[in-house]
Amino acid sequence: MTRRRFWSLRPASTGEATDAILANLLLHWFPARMRLTSIAWTPSFWLGTVTWVLFVLLLLSGLPLMVFYVPSTREAYQSIKDIEHVVSFGWWIRAAHRIAAHLMVIVVSLHLVRVFLTGAYKNAGQREQHREWNWVIGVAMLVGTLLLSFTGYLLPWDQLAFWAVTVSMNIVSSTLLVGPAIRDALIGGREIGQTALMRFYLLHIVVVPIAMAVLFAYHMWRVRKDGGLARGDAPQDAAEVVVAIPAVARRVTVVALLTWLVVTVLALVIPSPLEEAANALVTPNPAKAPWYFLWLQEIVADTTVRIGSVAVNGAFIGGVVLPMALLVLLTLWPWLDRSPAATVGATLPRERRTQVLVFIAIAAIVIVLTGVGLLRGPSWQFYWPWQPWANVPTRF
Ligand code: HEM
Repeated sequence: MTRRRFWSLRPASTGEATDAILANLLLHWFPARMRLTSIAWTPSFWLGTVTWVLFVLLLLSGLPLMVFYVPSTREAYQSIKDIEHVVSFGWWIRAAHRIAAHLMVIVVSLHLVRVFLTGAYKNAGQREQHREWNWVIGVAMLVGTLLLSFTGYLLPWDQLAFWAVTVSMNIVSSTLLVGPAIRDALIGGREIGQTALMRFYLLHIVVVPIAMAVLFAYHMWRVRKDGGLARGDAPQDAAEVVVAIPAVARRVTVVALLTWLVVTVLALVIPSPLEEAANALVTPNPAKAPWYFLWLQEIVADTTVRIGSVAVNGAFIGGVVLPMALLVLLTLWPWLDRSPAATVGATLPRERRTQVLVFIAIAAIVIVLTGVGLLRGPSWQFYWPWQPWANVPTRF
């Protein structure tokens, strides 16, 4: 084995590159060999890697925020104000953290769409594969991403945070039988106060990040064990095989730097919101859920039926039954998809046309409802982005 103190950017031979990987803890993460199709820019668009880079950026920007943030209802708001106005570059680090969080929700969804459209959860049969399990792990990571973002939402302890979480908790607690128990476990009672803030904080900085890191390690291990990115069962072409290092390391670096650049630039131009300090006695009008749950809030608002003086709350059907059914459907999809293995990697194959249409229809409904939710203003009326909101008195 060639001994070098540092790994060479230009290994002299395939053997030297492989040795370097085996001898180095960091490089060991990469497979020694990889198919060229697995590191192509398309069809994966590297969306999974971008999601992961965003997660790492969240960890990196979260650490300095943690130094200044105080998870107490009396001090949280002021500590965010200090980060925003007193701490050097605090506003920028906070903005980068927020932008990366929002982008992670968007990019992980795009990654899911790409995996679905290429049928990459299907086993193409060359060897023992369990791609369907990676899909299930992916669904867990999608939920983890939403939880990561949602638990962070409360931390600034301003009106926006307080009421967005209040609205979401009202929806959660309407789940039949288990709703109140889930709400109590999350916020420690009926009201959002110190216990809720501390639990959200711990979930946000410890529990969910660790769970995500473990799931990600398994996710990538599975990709490796399943023989790289999914493709049809065409015999392996010798010309397709490349040495992973340095080609893959170079591409990961490019993807990471580009992602970092986009987050940095967006953080410079998009200021982070900070409203009045949280006040349980003043309900803002409108009180909206975070944007990625707006489609649920929209369904809840639209499915509340009034019969005379009785209101049948839409929260249970629209806010709980429907999204849970969608989540179960999403998780089980690989087992419901009976199309032949040859469709893996193909774009819109005839055999998968119906399911692709169903998937696109559901995605379109979610996107349209989110758009509608974004356009809601005071008293749940529609306003175009350029229209000023009516000065409706706040409800007490
Ligand atoms: C934090 C969330 C996630 C991260 C960091 C992540 C990361 C990755 C990465 C880096 C890859 C390698 C290829 C690529 O970049 O596309 C990958 C592949 C894969 N991901 Fe994810 N992923 C996440 C969420 C999901 C979700 C939500 C799903 C679907 C429900 C999913 C299902 C899969 C599958 C099935 C593969 C194998 C794809 C193939 O063989 O072509 N992942 N993931």
